[in-house]
Amino acid sequence: MTNEQSSPAPEIENLMAEGRAFPPPPAFVAQANAKADLYLEADDDYEAFWARLARERLTWRTPFKRTLEWDAPFAKWFTGGTLNVTENCVDRHVAAGLGDKVAYHWVGEPGDTRTITYADLLREVQQAANALLELGVRTGDRVAIYMPMIPELPIAMLACARIGAAHTVVFGGFSAEALAGRIEDAQAKLIITADGGWRRGKPVDLKTAADEAAAQSPTVEHILVVRRLGDALPASMTPGRDVWWHDIVTRQVADCPPVPVDSEHLLYILYTSGTTAKPKGIVHTSAGYLLGTSVTHEMVFDIKPDDVYWCAADIGWVTGHSYIVYGPLANATTGVLYEGAPDTPGWDRWWQIVEDYKVTVLYMAPTAIRAFMKQGEALPAARDLSSLRLLGSVGEPINPEAWLWYHLNIGRERCPIVDTWWQTETGQILISPLPGVTETKPGSATFPLPGISADVVDSNGDSVPLGQGGYLVLKRPWPAMLRGIYGDPDRYRATYWGRFPGMYFAGDGAKRDTDGYFWLLGRVDDVMNVAGHRISTIEVESALVDHPAVAEAAVVGKEDPVTGQAIFAFCTVRADVETSDELAHELREHVAKVIGPIARPRYLLFTPDLPKTRSGKIMRRLLRDVAEGRALGDTTTLADQGVVETIRAGAGRADEE
Ligand code: WTA
Repeated sequence: MTNEQSSPAPEIENLMAEGRAFPPPPAFVAQANAKADLYLEADDDYEAFWARLARERLTWRTPFKRTLEWDAPFAKWFTGGTLNVTENCVDRHVAAGLGDKVAYHWVGEPGDTRTITYADLLREVQQAANALLELGVRTGDRVAIYMPMIPELPIAMLACARIGAAHTVVFGGFSAEALAGRIEDAQAKLIITADGGWRRGKPVDLKTAADEAAAQSPTVEHILVVRRLGDALPASMTPGRDVWWHDIVTRQVADCPPVPVDSEHLLYILYTSGTTAKPKGIVHTSAGYLLGTSVTHEMVFDIKPDDVYWCAADIGWVTGHSYIVYGPLANATTGVLYEGAPDTPGWDRWWQIVEDYKVTVLYMAPTAIRAFMKQGEALPAARDLSSLRLLGSVGEPINPEAWLWYHLNIGRERCPIVDTWWQTETGQILISPLPGVTETKPGSATFPLPGISADVVDSNGDSVPLGQGGYLVLKRPWPAMLRGIYGDPDRYRATYWGRFPGMYFAGDGAKRDTDGYFWLLGRVDDVMNVAGHRISTIEVESALVDHPAVAEAAVVGKEDPVTGQAIFAFCTVRADVETSDELAHELREHVAKVIGPIARPRYLLFTPDLPKTRSGKIMRRLLRDVAEGRALGDTTTLADQGVVETIRAGAGRADEE
């Protein structure tokens, strides 16, 4: 990552020049949860390691009989066992006397707040679960959740888990069409949504999109709607189908016994972008997922009973599922939940929340760190951030400059940083420092966690020597791993286990340095990472060619100093179409409508043709060179050498949003 706008501040430059490593601060070591001997224990017998943790940390209805049944690539963890996820996340804490402990400090964007204790959570989850039952949802059914970051979101997820129904949360930045596609794939019976939420001071409508999706989805029987905006954006309700949360949930009795389910019972499906136009429904099941998230949450974030932990992600992504909802609640953690944007009303909103709630552990994405860097040091400096003791990063490679900025300006050189690598598919963090154990290097996610076997291999699947790069693979199953792609076992096998037989291929490039540290190098497939959001180039391309004016489209991720990558679309139009700024705008709107605003191309260039191989494959690699203004790589396989030069000559005229 290069920062084109400015060179690093002198103190950051000094640290970078030193290539410094950061040993854990001695005071932190003395109190750290994780000790180095965990690696030894797990190496010795990783199944026994996870089995011990599963017995110690989870509350079982029926103890499991076998730790792992591994019929590669299909894993079953803790077979024979039954439990209920919400009992583990809520009931047992209340039973242990923690009813008054805060589960979430919720902060609405306009400044309204709510405090939800574990006792509140138990009451509301049971009421919501009873409402789901009244609406006809049963164990084994699927429920789509399309909500802003309000307390009812985790409550809705837990209500599903309480009765053994699976949720599929769809990020609020996705369109009605994207929602409908996911509902169809999951065959969801119910949509839980809200009239909308607040974002950058404006009401954002969700109900209309839910209505449009429901109109395309014959499986949907009801829409359950939380009133968040009220008069700011009145929602239209369809009698018989739509029900207000405050009507149906509030009148339920707060008693809904948790349904014990098999360890491998479906907990949720979360759709993520792959290398095809159709998102994949990643399947996560109950016991292994809960164990993987709670253990890593406790180990990686060094969670203590009095921590105030803030994962500033959206629950619509896996980070929110694992590290706002399931992991932290299983650990009876007090968390912060923030509804809105980091710049509203000003760019110090987050630092104000840290100060107000005395946040001790903060977990966020490099794209946010870089956005804060652009605003300068003065904003965090003006706030009391002395409560912070540990910082985390997730979602994309963190460049050393951003790491050091985070270390200096937010951690004030006191707080270890955990750069955590994982994916929707992995369910839990797999590569990360253990704070208090691992010496960190800015930009490196360091080492696989205890119990995890990761490697970097060449195209034949052979381990590369230290100091070299290749493909990141995982060689052993882990408890929170995906159990498959919903309804498509062949695609699961082919996508993740087909490239290197016997190994899980993550889609990321990585290298290990001569000390064995892992450095993540980004995706090696057609997946872009835009502000930490995973978006497929093919998905955006198919949305573009879906527009009648477009003949062909090719999309690449252009390196961007803040968002990591920005979407760059090359479009050829049909013979009778005139290109114009208006058309560029229309195409962006079209992509937003088909996928969602997060997929709008930042750059759009009309080109007379696209560079292709003789077999007709678009050469995205060359387009990436054009987008990033680099010298063109190998062009010998091009069918028409002139095309790419023409595109390059016009690249400066790309429409930028
Ligand atoms: C990238 C988010 C480098 C990676 C939890 C991965 C990272 C994809 C890191 C998964 C990290 C995530 N360093 N790259 N610490 N964390 N990634 O499914 O390319 O939204 O494959 O899960 O994000 O994105 P997903």
